[in-house]
Amino acid sequence: MGNAENGKALFKKMCAICHTTGKDGKHRIGPNLFGIFGRTCGTAVGFNYTEQMRKKGVVWDEKTLNEYLEYPKQFIPGTRMMFNGIKKAEERRDIIAYLATLK
Ligand code: HEC
Repeated sequence: MGNAENGKALFKKMCAICHTTGKDGKHRIGPNLFGIFGRTCGTAVGFNYTEQMRKKGVVWDEKTLNEYLEYPKQFIPGTRMMFNGIKKAEERRDIIAYLATLK
């Protein structure tokens, strides 16, 4: 398991500009990520996802989040998440550990 504390700091730097994390948090450019771990992709209420994200139908867990965050546009071609991906495996692991605490 990754280091959720470090993941939180990384999240602030890389993701918080587009995503909130609190319960019932607002959607920004990206959807609120509360409860994301274990949820089916593209299902936050009130967020207008791309069709590709809605149709992908994966459940977010360590494996799928790792693939998505490494290279979003390869995992979901056409995704609107304007993010190039995180190259370092330890950083992805820590961010995923943090995402797993959002419940
Ligand atoms: C420039 C804005 C932006 C940044 C930066 C960004 N995202 Fe996103 N994110 C989005 C958008 C927009 C979507 C919806 C994509 C779609 O509908 O195709 C999304 C979708 C997601 C999803 C899927 C949500 C769901 O409900 O299925 C996850 C998980 C996610 N982002 C995590 C992250 C993480 C972790 C980071 C930082 C490493 C990050 N994002 C950085 C804009 C962003």
